[in-house]
Amino acid sequence: MPVYLDHAATTWVRPEVTDLLIEQMASAGNPSSVHAYGQAAKMRLEAARVRIAKALGCDHNEVVFTSGGTESNNLAILGLYEARNRRGQRPLIYFLGTEHHAVLEPIEHLEKFAGAEAREIPVDSAGHPDLDWLEADLLANADSAALVTAIYANNETGTIVNLPDIVALCKRLQIPVHTDAVAAVGHIDVNFRDLGASTLAFTGHKLGAPIGVGVLLVGRDVHLCAQQFGGTQERAMRAGTQNVAGAEAVALAVELAVGELAAHRITWEKLRDQLIDSAKRVAPDLVIGGDSSDDSSKRLSNIVNLVFPGCAGDSLLFLLDSAGVAISNGSACTAGVATASHVLLAQGFSQRDAGSCVRVSFGATTTSQDLDALLSALPEAYSKAKAAGFTV
Ligand SMILES: Cc1ncc(COP(=O)(O)O)c(C=O)c1O
Repeated sequence: MPVYLDHAATTWVRPEVTDLLIEQMASAGNPSSVHAYGQAAKMRLEAARVRIAKALGCDHNEVVFTSGGTESNNLAILGLYEARNRRGQRPLIYFLGTEHHAVLEPIEHLEKFAGAEAREIPVDSAGHPDLDWLEADLLANADSAALVTAIYANNETGTIVNLPDIVALCKRLQIPVHTDAVAAVGHIDVNFRDLGASTLAFTGHKLGAPIGVGVLLVGRDVHLCAQQFGGTQERAMRAGTQNVAGAEAVALAVELAVGELAAHRITWEKLRDQLIDSAKRVAPDLVIGGDSSDDSSKRLSNIVNLVFPGCAGDSLLFLLDSAGVAISNGSACTAGVATASHVLLAQGFSQRDAGSCVRVSFGATTTSQDLDALLSALPEAYSKAKAAGFTV
């Protein structure tokens, strides 16, 4: 099998989680049923909620189970916007241009169909938001602001934004803050209570749980309107029979990821720095598409975005894939479509350089042999991709 260095797209289900799923999927019981089977399912679901709350520093009833990161982000953006606009006219949504499409597209939807006005918070070349701009704009428009959303750690570049400062500013002005923490949970310390955001989205499949289960943390005092109907599950915010085994899988995966984080970080940082040094020797004009400082509070250890000027990112991806190494050219959701990274464009990269990047990402199973395989395939892939140049 090829070497896998695309853990930010999705990662292996942890063996402990597979064992749990096999065991728990054999049990029947709808947590809304009153009989013993239903109550047993409800107890398992609530236990999963408590474990997630403990791992991420929140109250168990702040944990809302969903089908994944996309749904969690949609629910937060659409639900906060609706709730805020029921209590007065607040059309403004502040966001970063570096957000995932699961955040950008619900905002576009609200612009088209609900009279929202999106305001893009400028970011610097590493993806850090301009907080002075945000403060000035919010101060001038606090009464019309529905919400602010900011991706906690970027899934394409690994840049970690200064979310506590954004939350502190918005708290002063009583504006809710949502954060897409899909790339953050399990990869940096996340404590919902200390952070003080209104809502926080994450998904199981980036942590070792299966695809199709996610969580939205919703502060206990936050007003959020449901976006799907047909039941009162999940504090009446997310109708539908809960996926009990999936919830247990996410709980176990989060516990494992959080428990092993310190050790993984040491490994990932070493691999990340070795990758950057070696890639610079292959391509001296290499640029890091994200924060490249020594400050570990500003960049993830497991995601590296490498911009190879003059090479199409897609060419590099295909050449490395044929050499037996799986990486990504950015967000998995846009992979396969040869477009420049919207994240790097938002950071001010040229169209060409934003199309010249690849993303390498590490996970719990990554070893130094995986990196060796990439580094031995890189020189040839780079020279071929450089010779091919751009087709468009
Ligand atoms: C930052 C970010 N947000 C949201 C999502 C969507 O999550 P899901 O695949 O669980 O729908 C992803 C997935 O790649 C992501 O990287």
